[in-house]
Amino acid sequence: MPKPKDLIELSYLSEAVSDMSFLGLMRLLESARAFNQANGITGILLYDNQQFGQIIEGDRASVMKAWKRIQEDRRHHRVELLEIREIAERSFPDWLLRFYGGETLTQDYPALTQMVGGMDKHSLALMNRMRASQT
Ligand SMILES: Cc1cc2nc3c(=O)[nH]c(=O)nc-3n(C[C@H](O)[C@H](O)[C@H](O)COP(=O)(O)O)c2cc1C
Repeated sequence: MPKPKDLIELSYLSEAVSDMSFLGLMRLLESARAFNQANGITGILLYDNQQFGQIIEGDRASVMKAWKRIQEDRRHHRVELLEIREIAERSFPDWLLRFYGGETLTQDYPALTQMVGGMDKHSLALMNRMRASQT
């Protein structure tokens, strides 16, 4: 039997240093996505009321590399690790980095619907879990 892949999931919360503009968020997504794609990382990013919540998943080494980049990013602070855990399979296999929090964005920019998306049940539960762990 081949050794199962060392898959992990990492989640954290943080606070944007200043309210992110639309363009600012797009720039952030661009650079995050490029790295994620090159390193087999998938996940979701939530942005609401100047708070970020993110879950990334992938092999341990890649996720830890992305985590370092995330922690070093000066666009946010109060970065609070929620959990790192081993997972058997990915929850977001097709999402390089899905962005949530953009209901107003999609109204203004319908072309972005694909990228921004609506809240499905799974993500809603996830966000509630993240919110609940905030003190
Ligand atoms: C809220 C937030 C989420 C981020 N998510 C990721 C991510 O998923 N993957 C990643 O590699 N970097 C992520 N980053 C870090 C930035 O994408 C990246 O390190 C920074 O923009 C520097 O990019 P550069 O290498 O293009 O200069 C994130 C940063 C912030 C503030």
